Order: sequence, then structure tokens, then C-alpha cells
Amino acid sequence: MRRSARVLLRAPVELRTAAAGAPKLKSFSIYRWNPDEPDTKPRMEEYVVNLNECGPMVLDALIKIKNELDPTLTFRRSCREGICGSCAMNIDGTNTLACLCKIADPETDTKVYPLPHMYVLKDLGALPYPPHISYSSVAGRATSPTRRAGCTV
Ligand code: FES
Repeated sequence: MRRSARVLLRAPVELRTAAAGAPKLKSFSIYRWNPDEPDTKPRMEEYVVNLNECGPMVLDALIKIKNELDPTLTFRRSCREGICGSCAMNIDGTNTLACLCKIADPETDTKVYPLPHMYVLKDLGALPYPPHISYSSVAGRATSPTRRAGCTV
């Protein structure tokens, strides 16, 4: 009786070890474009990540890809808590934050694009306006006396 109880307690640990040992592979297709290579057209590049060695969110997978598979992959991120908005991108057709988006079913391919209608700097890194418009000019308009008074220019 005592021995069988010990076997039952041990079984889940062995199952967990076996599950952790088998790689849980997931494919990510990621938009790639480099302005420093003007002759190369934008393309989708595929990366395979073992989800057993990765966090649960798409941003975790992107960080793993950048750290271990391709250091040239470019994307923006900061807080990793859904506050700053810098990791906003289009994941499987939905505009969302990569740090709040759980990795979908490993059977399907996840497609990651920059946000639509944004100025793409490189790969997934995008700005809401072209870089020649400086932040100070935008901020100056937003806080100008006519703006504060509710007037349109
Ligand atoms: S990293 Fe800040 S919202 Fe995702």
C-alpha cells in the first residue's frame, strides 16, 4: 500500500519530465524588410521556436528569435506589461500588443506584420508618422495656444 502510493506520487513528475523533453515546435512567419538593402523586397521569413523553452507571449518568442536565431530581427518593446504600446504589431490579422498576445496553437503558423498604415523603419519597427516630422513639431502643435483653446488650424 505504501509502495503504490509512492508510485502514484511519482508518476506525474515522470510525465512532466517526458513532456518537457519532447520539443513543442511552433512556426512564426515574420515580415522582414531592411531599408539598407534597397534591392531586396519585403519578405516573410520563417522561424521555428521550441515553446518548452519560451515564455507564453508572442513578444517572448520574438525576443527568443532575436537572441538565439537571428540578431538582425528588429522590433520595438519596452515595458512588457501592455502599458507603453511600443510592441504594437499585427499578429495573425489582429492589431495587438505582442506582450499581451498569447502564442496560439502550435499546429498553426503565426504570421507577424508591422501595424498597417504605419511608416515601417525596419522589419516590425514602425512609427505613426514619417521620421522627417520631428517630435517637437508634433508636440508643439499639440500644445499650441490655439490647440488648447479647441481651435483648428
Ligand atoms: S512592451 Fe510595452 S506594451 Fe508591450
